[in-house]
Amino acid sequence: MTKRNSDMQPSEFLNAGKEVIEWATRYLTNIENYRVLPSIKPGEIEKLIPNKPPEFGEDFETILSDIDRIVIPGITHWQHPKFMAYFASTASGPGILADIISSTLNSNGMVWKSSPALTEVECKVLDWYRSILEFPDSFKGIIYDTASISSFHGIAAAREYKFPESRNKGMSSLSHPRLYCSEQAHSSIEKAAIALGIGMEGVRKIKVDSEFKMIPEELEKAIEEDIRNGYSPFCVVGTIGTTSTTSVDPIDEISELCRKYDLWLHVDAAYAGVTSMLPEMKKYFKGIEYADSIVTNPHKWLFVPIDLSVFYTKRPDILKRAFSLVPEYLKTDADSEVENLMDYGIQLGRRFRSLKLWFVIRYFGVEGLKEILRKHIRLAQSFADWIKKSSEFELLAPVPFSTVCFRAVPKGMDAQNLNEFNKVLLEHINSTGKLFLTHTVLNNKFTIRLVVSGIRQEERHILGAREIIQEEFEILKRTIQ
Ligand SMILES: Cc1ncc(COP(=O)(O)O)c(C=O)c1O
Repeated sequence: MTKRNSDMQPSEFLNAGKEVIEWATRYLTNIENYRVLPSIKPGEIEKLIPNKPPEFGEDFETILSDIDRIVIPGITHWQHPKFMAYFASTASGPGILADIISSTLNSNGMVWKSSPALTEVECKVLDWYRSILEFPDSFKGIIYDTASISSFHGIAAAREYKFPESRNKGMSSLSHPRLYCSEQAHSSIEKAAIALGIGMEGVRKIKVDSEFKMIPEELEKAIEEDIRNGYSPFCVVGTIGTTSTTSVDPIDEISELCRKYDLWLHVDAAYAGVTSMLPEMKKYFKGIEYADSIVTNPHKWLFVPIDLSVFYTKRPDILKRAFSLVPEYLKTDADSEVENLMDYGIQLGRRFRSLKLWFVIRYFGVEGLKEILRKHIRLAQSFADWIKKSSEFELLAPVPFSTVCFRAVPKGMDAQNLNEFNKVLLEHINSTGKLFLTHTVLNNKFTIRLVVSGIRQEERHILGAREIIQEEFEILKRTIQ
């Protein structure tokens, strides 16, 4: 224990920094030795941490050693190549290192003057990223932490567009607002509606077809019906890559309706948006040029450490109108000639997040990134082919990207027992510690999802996943026979 009242000396910082990088290198090198999912009970980690903070400073070595002793046993290893759950997101080396620099600079890009490079790098990197995705030049980008917050800002801009008085008058000025999204849209859309005074009843969920895509005719019927009944339609959220199945709503047809009824079109492409850089995937982005706003998450499938979500809008003026509010202490002499990023959202303080996207794009290059995405899509398709060929598993949704929805269908099992069987199968798979998958429910069927989107995933990991699934399936089958 040491009494300290000043920061680390440079030599101590350097030595501790080397230890941290050595620790990180060891962690990533040995990542496959860990159980993907920890086997601990709630509260076990908390118990390892003393109830009281230290009165005096501890050695950095002791602090760092507690990462292995206290934290690692409770970590779900997102960096593990057999993490194939949710939308598996991984951090690459250049992204991790950029994060260290960002923390070292500790810049706060509230306004241009509070850190000019932060604002200008962010704007330029988002121009790069937009050109990589081949989105129209008219889109202006801004970084938020997550897709949930990006969509919140898209819907806030939509609200500002249709109910401009809401900024001053608040909820009383919202006369029965109506937002539309498909039944498969992410819960963040409803959360945004809750936060923006639209309310959950202000969200109308549109039916999907057999491939889980929004049905435009149903959307139009709903809009017409709402107008007749005194509602005020203001926004449609289309999804490219829904969370459960990665289905793609027909953005081109939806955009026609948005133009017809003068509605804001927000596109949630949190996971699949990155694939817009692949010419063969352009078919899923038809009509994207008509979107008023769109979100894609480099932290999901572009190897940028969490968190970094990119939001583009064609109508930054409306977003700015919704949020710009400049107190005296933030006025600067440069305001008339610069962007102040605080004008485009709720948050004032702004971390130097663009650095990690900049590093990742420069380190891999656009061709390198395309190659990795293509590999993931190829590996997922090979897994889907394996499922299709099997007589005891079935695919439950099309596989446009790198997410496979499937379930086991053991011969002779009654339909009503399949859900329970698959639920237990998933528990067994995950309890091996060798693979982590998650689930959804599609048409009342318990569905297992396998996602290939990690920077360290190779063919052997997919083959390994197949083996584990098959093995646990056989064991479970035997137990019920
Ligand atoms: C389609 C879609 N939108 C939004 C989100 C929310 O993402 P975030 O965690 O970045 O808020 C998810 C999460 O998986 C998603 O799949």
